[in-house]
Amino acid sequence: MQFENQVVLVTGAGRGIGKEIALSFARQGADIGVADVNEDTAQATANEIEKLGRKAFFTRADVSDYGQVQQFVSGAMRQLGRIDVLVNNAGIAQPQPFLEITPENWENHLRIHLFGTFYCSQAAAREMAKRKYGRIVSIASVAGLMGPIDLAPYGVAKSGIIGLTRAMALELADYGITANAIAPGPIDTEMIRAAWSKEALEERASHLPIRRLGQTSEIAHAAMFLASPDSGFISGATLVVDGGSVAAGAYMVEKYRRRKAGQA
Ligand SMILES: NC(=O)c1ccc[n+]([C@@H]2O[C@H](COP(=O)([O-])OP(=O)(O)OC[C@H]3O[C@@H](n4cnc5c(N)ncnc54)[C@H](O)[C@@H]3O)[C@@H](O)[C@H]2O)c1
Repeated sequence: MQFENQVVLVTGAGRGIGKEIALSFARQGADIGVADVNEDTAQATANEIEKLGRKAFFTRADVSDYGQVQQFVSGAMRQLGRIDVLVNNAGIAQPQPFLEITPENWENHLRIHLFGTFYCSQAAAREMAKRKYGRIVSIASVAGLMGPIDLAPYGVAKSGIIGLTRAMALELADYGITANAIAPGPIDTEMIRAAWSKEALEERASHLPIRRLGQTSEIAHAAMFLASPDSGFISGATLVVDGGSVAAGAYMVEKYRRRKAGQA
């Protein structure tokens, strides 16, 4: 029970990686604040947390809306009393080839991923600072470390989250707060299944040194490591959890060239 009686806020916890993170912390004794733009799935996650014997607070909140984020954090404080950990997980991936990217697509990715991570981190850190303890874990992506295909604004926003993580590591250290990011490779969730065909996903997996997609539980494991009270000397880091793909490097170049040549 590593997180016994701690309070963990998870954005985008209605499904996928965020849901698994929320349930994993609850299994380790934490009470959870759940925010999602989808109220029904947020409530379903909260119900599962309560079945594990933990308290849950849920709210419909769009992380790109400053006011809704303030309401989420103040509601969690009222219901759960404190904030030990924030996991910035909410996100979207709407692929568009670079020459076809619309202003709306560009803005949506930046607002949800980057502005959302800033709004949530600032609001949670203001509460954490009062108790001189906190852990902020933000879900970035390998797309923030390598050039992604058809996802330029997504990659830019994820690079921004990595930069924001470094800035927070510096400015929040005096308040006992660490800030770290996770850069997942392809993880088997509805998001990636919507963005890639089944064949493309199989091909992607076959190019990873560890020849499979990652599981949501593997990202939850990394989030709990970075959020642990024992990880107080780790701050400003980006933990790559990607089956070795960044280390291996060349997959995207290869895919792009084969596509141009009409082979993929
Ligand atoms: N699945 C992958 O391969 C992968 C890889 C790298 C990074 N990530 C990142 O991990 C995070 C979770 O991804 P996932 O695969 O579980 O996606 P998902 O689509 O399955 O889940 C995302 C959740 O976020 C919620 N959400 C979306 N926009 C929101 C908003 N504006 N405010 C609040 N909630 C919002 C959705 O309703 C959903 O419940 C995202 O930040 C994603 O970019 C995923």
